[in-house]
Amino acid sequence: MADIESDPARTPTERELVDLIPHRFDPRVRSLLAAALGVSADGVVQQELDAYIDAPMRRLLGFLDDRVPVALIGLDFLGEHSAIVLHVAVAQEERRAGIGRQMVWAAAARYGLERMSAAGDPVSAGFFRTLGFCVRSVGETLPGLERFECVWHADGKDDDGGR
Ligand SMILES: CC(C)(COP(=O)(O)OP(=O)(O)OC[C@H]1O[C@@H](n2cnc3c(N)ncnc32)[C@H](O)[C@@H]1OP(=O)(O)O)[C@@H](O)C(=O)NCCC(=O)NCCS
Repeated sequence: MADIESDPARTPTERELVDLIPHRFDPRVRSLLAAALGVSADGVVQQELDAYIDAPMRRLLGFLDDRVPVALIGLDFLGEHSAIVLHVAVAQEERRAGIGRQMVWAAAARYGLERMSAAGDPVSAGFFRTLGFCVRSVGETLPGLERFECVWHADGKDDDGGR
């Protein structure tokens, strides 16, 4: 897979990506998922957690620091080498230290992903753009709420085959 190993990630510590489902009762996992969702309602967070348990093509992964969940990434596999990044969040106090970037590439390397996509707001679009995803606006889904589609291909192409 192109460029994952050589990605110039700022990786302060080499962390291991772990399955977060066994940690799903940890309030920190719930608060990371709430941050990714941009909601605080327990019911919504629980619904999303249940979907990771019920849907065979979904994986909820993340990084632990001394057994404390500090970052989360949720994937929905579209095929063997393609996944949607459904959720990504890093604990507030750990942000802007390269953990989010490290986690995305760790997930891609672990599953041999050749294509990843994500939908997001301007903040997540900024994050994915920095990682080399192609970002395009899909307009405002609600007034004042611009949404973006972010796509990464291992071969550097965009979805139309261009570069
Ligand atoms: C988005 C998020 C996951 C990024 O995690 P992170 O560990 O802070 O990201 P990194 O430190 O790996 O940042 C990599 C690059 O992405 C960009 N980036 C990170 N956060 C950004 C932000 N809030 N706005 C714009 N660009 C951002 C930066 O260019 C950064 O590189 P730099 O620090 O050298 O400038 C984190 O801010 C977060 O958890 N936010 C709340 C949840 C959320 O909004 N999730 C996205 C929707 S699913």
